Amino acid sequence: MSTLDRTDEEIDTLTNTAAAASGASASASFRTNEVYSGAAAGSSTERVDAVARALLKAVHRVIDEHEVTYPEFQAAKKWLMDVGEVGEWPLFLDVFVEHAVEEVASRSQHGSKGTILGPYYLPGQVQLTSPATLPARPDEVGTPLVFTGRVTDLDGSPLTGATLDIWHADSDGLYSGFAPGLPEGNLRGVVTADAEGRFEIRTIQPAPYQIPTDGPTGALTRAAGWSPWRPAHLHLLVSAPGHRTITTQLYFAGGEHLEDDVAEATKPELVLDPVENASGERVAEYDFALERD
Ligand code: DHB
Ligand code: FE
Repeated sequence: MSTLDRTDEEIDTLTNTAAAASGASASASFRTNEVYSGAAAGSSTERVDAVARALLKAVHRVIDEHEVTYPEFQAAKKWLMDVGEVGEWPLFLDVFVEHAVEEVASRSQHGSKGTILGPYYLPGQVQLTSPATLPARPDEVGTPLVFTGRVTDLDGSPLTGATLDIWHADSDGLYSGFAPGLPEGNLRGVVTADAEGRFEIRTIQPAPYQIPTDGPTGALTRAAGWSPWRPAHLHLLVSAPGHRTITTQLYFAGGEHLEDDVAEATKPELVLDPVENASGERVAEYDFALERD
């Protein structure tokens, strides 16, 4: 049965079950995935003292300003324990905190804009050469998308050997390797651009992403009346020998939730505006400029 034959309730159940499992598998991925290995930061005693103390002070100030009660304190403790027990910390922190860390990091970066990595990156995906088609199911649902452009240095000279590690959600907003039932490596690939840094990648347009609604993160968004949505996006790590890798995401002009991304990770420079070609594919063009490392 394809997604198109399902009722709205069936899709809701499917998406929520899959989404819950995604939170937990993001924890397992975080522990084994080298891209997150900044975990051993090696900060000095002075640095730990300054940052940890400021963090605790901020918590104390919130308690004081909002006159937080004992029942609220105990409920918060239980909620924090629940997030850990179901493995939702990577998901929670990447949605609600990573954008602030990325904003600090981006102060010392030049070239194309970056944004958050998120919890769903998986290394070691299939290596492809441009023009490339990302692995997809035979009945993959979604509007065909051709993503094309160039990778250059800051002066606009082509970067030979540039690669685009790309991953994105399917038309249900689910990521392979995290939501159950999706083939391994679906809608993921590492594409090498040509000698002029040009790339052309065929895939489908992803759907907006909803943070899992049935775990403690979902309980918080409901209790607070927040939107659980991110706009549809492509994730990319763009690399070239001797250059600094860009971690970024690209969004779609006119798409839902561009203005109210729960992860606050959109930037005006990161919005694609695809145009339809004669074959009914949507063609989106984007150029990346990388600085030397
Ligand atoms: C989360 C999911 C994403 O797809 C993303 O790009 C960023 C964050 C999350 O659920 O934490
Ligand atoms: Fe994402």
